[in-house]
Amino acid sequence: MTTIIKRGAFLGLFVVTLVTIWVHERYVLQPHNPQWAHFQPFRWWLLPHVATGVLALGLGPLQFSNTLRRWNPKVHRWLGRVYAVAALISSLLALYIVLVYEIPNNRWVMGVMAGLWFLTTACAWISALKRDFIQHKLWVGRSYGLTFTFVATRFLPDVVWPGMDYYGYTALYWMLIIISLILPDLIIGLAGFRPFRPRID
Ligand code: HEM
Repeated sequence: MTTIIKRGAFLGLFVVTLVTIWVHERYVLQPHNPQWAHFQPFRWWLLPHVATGVLALGLGPLQFSNTLRRWNPKVHRWLGRVYAVAALISSLLALYIVLVYEIPNNRWVMGVMAGLWFLTTACAWISALKRDFIQHKLWVGRSYGLTFTFVATRFLPDVVWPGMDYYGYTALYWMLIIISLILPDLIIGLAGFRPFRPRID
């Protein structure tokens, strides 16, 4: 049952990702789109940020698969290392772009987002090395939540709440940071929560 819910959830996230790419990233196919001029000053930082970000976004869901982990733990470990290196590099580049090229008002929320993306990924890797797999599961969940903010920060304002103003955007970014940090605890906590189990005295 849990596996079906998990697969359904990841399928949902995949569809949301495809819609986001179609709605928000179509400009990639339009050479005269004004976005290109905006990216010009930091294009050499943005390019590796995007390449490693895409790698992390694509590999992340595989790391939650119990089937893959049981079938071949070595593949799980190697994909985990690639995910972690990609997310660590992408988050550092995001932090640099935010601090140097973003408008000052955006620096706090975007800087915290990028910094926490780096920190949660590092904690996920360290807990795996220490073989503390309960902590590892929680930190990977937090790290991937932050990786997925790439989709959520575009899908929600473009598709769900079009016309959002600057204050709305800022609140949305903070909300996504909080959700990324606490959702893994809620999911793992709920999995062990049995409201109808008889009381044990
Ligand atoms: C905590 C997570 C992240 C932060 C803080 C972050 C930060 C940034 C910043 C500051 C920009 C420049 C925006 C601008 O001036 O228009 C940017 C652009 C971009 N980032 Fe990230 N990023 C994050 C995650 C990701 C991930 C996971 C991906 C890959 C899937 C990604 C892909 C992109 C792309 C494609 C752009 C170009 C703008 C666009 O086409 O929407 N980012 N990012």
